Amino acid sequence: MTAVFNASRLAGKTVLITGASGGIGAATALLFARAGTNLILTARRQAQLDEVARAAADEHKAGATGQGGKFVTLTLDMQDKAAVQGLLSRIPDDLRNVDVLVNNAGLVYGREQVGDIDDAELEIMFNTNVLGLIHLTQVFVREFKQRNSGHIINLGSIAGKEPYAGGAIYTATKHAVHAFNGSLLRELVGYNIRVSQICPGMVETDFSVTRFRGDRDAAAKTYEGLQPLTAHDIAEEIVWAAARPEHVNVADVLVFPTAQASATINHRGPLGQQ
Ligand SMILES: NC(=O)c1ccc[n+]([C@@H]2O[C@H](COP(=O)([O-])OP(=O)(O)OC[C@H]3O[C@@H](n4cnc5c(N)ncnc54)[C@H](OP(=O)(O)O)[C@@H]3O)[C@@H](O)[C@H]2O)c1
Repeated sequence: MTAVFNASRLAGKTVLITGASGGIGAATALLFARAGTNLILTARRQAQLDEVARAAADEHKAGATGQGGKFVTLTLDMQDKAAVQGLLSRIPDDLRNVDVLVNNAGLVYGREQVGDIDDAELEIMFNTNVLGLIHLTQVFVREFKQRNSGHIINLGSIAGKEPYAGGAIYTATKHAVHAFNGSLLRELVGYNIRVSQICPGMVETDFSVTRFRGDRDAAAKTYEGLQPLTAHDIAEEIVWAAARPEHVNVADVLVFPTAQASATINHRGPLGQQ
């Protein structure tokens, strides 16, 4: 019987992941490495990227596919338009034919409502989650069209499908990703290029630590009384989408913890005891 997951389709491919220094991006790097890919890992924190690359090398060895295993880390701030547009020229020649672009870098600040939102934080969210993602995608769409191959995987969110009070900017950025993903999917329908959006619900990473500006206790309360998703859970979705046969495009995936049903509806406490 053919394996259902069949990650072997990924062996020897080259994957570029933004925001690979932690959370979902780092977990995704490890799974791709195990499947025998080459990796280009980008984020602002170089030391963390190097750590992820070391862990990826161990995963690659354990995967024993005999393919891939070239790992490059490149410091990149998604807010820096020139750096994003120039990224391709910093990629070593042997890894320049990227097969999969994972647009994962993103962040949220605060729960403030409109009128009280900090201007600087608002701009960081839009520049990172939306403009940086769009600038980088433009670069790779040109590449992918020339080669008539490639896969763009965008990290959306339930926040891109459902707005909530206290999330005006973050939900606006993720709605923008949703719309961008949808237009791109339609524009590329005549090419052998896949466009996927993976939309997580609550995932316990440093995402909430950033939201609460470093307050780990406040971040931990987000997940109190329920079992959130892990970064690895979402990495599995991303790698699964990338490992489908070329004629299969996973267009949109919404993934919740079992105890979550919408952006604001969740169950805290044991499941099955209403
Ligand atoms: N966690 C959740 O509940 C959840 C739910 C839905 C969607 N998501 C989405 O999933 C993606 C990953 O989030 P996560 O949960 O893994 O959060 P995380 O653990 O905080 O990781 C965020 C990553 O994005 C990078 N990043 C942030 N700003 C950046 C910038 N300006 N330039 C380059 N890289 C930047 C960070 O690296 P540096 O700090 O080193 O730059 C880090 O690697 C985001 O797009 C997020 O919106 C998360």
